Amino acid sequence: MELEGKRIVLGVTGGVAAYKAAGLLRLLTGAGADVQVAMTEAATRFVGPITFAALSGKPVLTDMWAAAADNRPMTHIDLTRAADAILVAPATADFIARLAQGRADDLLATLILARACPLLLAPAMNRQMWDNPATQRNLELLRQDGVICLGPATGAQACGEEGMGRMLEPETLQEALRAFFTPKSLTEKKVLLTAGPTFEAIDPVRGITNLSSGCMGYAVARAAAQAGAEVTLVSGPVARAAPFNVTRIAVQSALEMHAAVMKRAADADIFIAVAAVADYRAERIAPQKLKKSAGGLPEIRLTPNPDILAEVAALPDAPFCVGFAAESEQLETHAQQKRQRKNIPLIVGNLIQEGFGGETNHVVLFDDAGSHPLPVAPKTQIARQLLAHILALMEKK
Ligand code: PMT
Repeated sequence: MELEGKRIVLGVTGGVAAYKAAGLLRLLTGAGADVQVAMTEAATRFVGPITFAALSGKPVLTDMWAAAADNRPMTHIDLTRAADAILVAPATADFIARLAQGRADDLLATLILARACPLLLAPAMNRQMWDNPATQRNLELLRQDGVICLGPATGAQACGEEGMGRMLEPETLQEALRAFFTPKSLTEKKVLLTAGPTFEAIDPVRGITNLSSGCMGYAVARAAAQAGAEVTLVSGPVARAAPFNVTRIAVQSALEMHAAVMKRAADADIFIAVAAVADYRAERIAPQKLKKSAGGLPEIRLTPNPDILAEVAALPDAPFCVGFAAESEQLETHAQQKRQRKNIPLIVGNLIQEGFGGETNHVVLFDDAGSHPLPVAPKTQIARQLLAHILALMEKK
């Protein structure tokens, strides 16, 4: 949604990671962006312009003089006037140095110098080149000029070395662009969340858990980060990557989730408890695997877990607290009862069959003013609507 109709110039410079730029281009056009590719001469030695032309559906710009000969002498100006952003991926050390000096010695550098839109760079280079003070100096200069630097990441490099300098993966760059285009309604806010199920061990291989996939909680974390918040996500065991710009703390049990949240709650502005926390855990975790015995069924005694949300809401300087309630019947009655019992201003009600798993949800927001049903929608969209409702309530306060 954030990339739909956005006009992006994708600059590709000469590094091995140029092949990943083709994947990025696919993701961007797939998300509805209108992408014009411009390559340096060196980039064309790594990947042919035909690949980018086929994926973008447009001729690739490589040569200033070719454009001029084609009766388009002002390509470098026209292009960026129409663009919403320029992203250079990969951005080599040499290209970064040229930008820092304000050079205009090829088409891509020229259109960047002549730009009237924001510039984002995804550096990619050998770790020594990245660590070189000259590269860091150049990047600092560019940052001072308002250029946004995405990555790089650390890991295995094309040269066989290991370290800082890998270009961010295409999916991560796409996420970063989405975040870039999202209005920053939560800047300077610290948001703490829980998501996913908890796993309460019974013995070394078995435990009590539930069907929460983490989809809803991760969607809220992602939307908050895109809106500019500093986000910490305390997550139960789920098979999901942490959203871009979100600090994830992985936990297993409710007690671990409780400890991780209580350590950070006093510092948060907003606490959103999306996790399906087990209400009970085994009183004693068997040190060895429980065996089938001839003498009848094994007995597992349960003991209650702490109520994380209620404890955070009871803190002297509590953050704005939001709960979720997954109910099998009487949604309004049960959700409102939970809201009152936990003493929180807002709870999100969903039916079990609609909330757990899946990419969509059907929720009703309950607050002091009553109930606010939202239409069935992808969890990503519900997350944005929920954050807007939270902000409106906080402003009223
Ligand atoms: O992860 P998905 O597959 O996308 O599914 C999303 C979801 C259905 C799990 C989510 O939308 C949801 O409804 N989460 C809350 C589940 C629930 O019913 O929780 P509860 O009624 O046990 O608890 C109410 C609130 O108190 C919740 O905000 C919960 O996080 C919190 N709680 C509960 C118990 C506990 N010990 N500590 C808590 O903080």
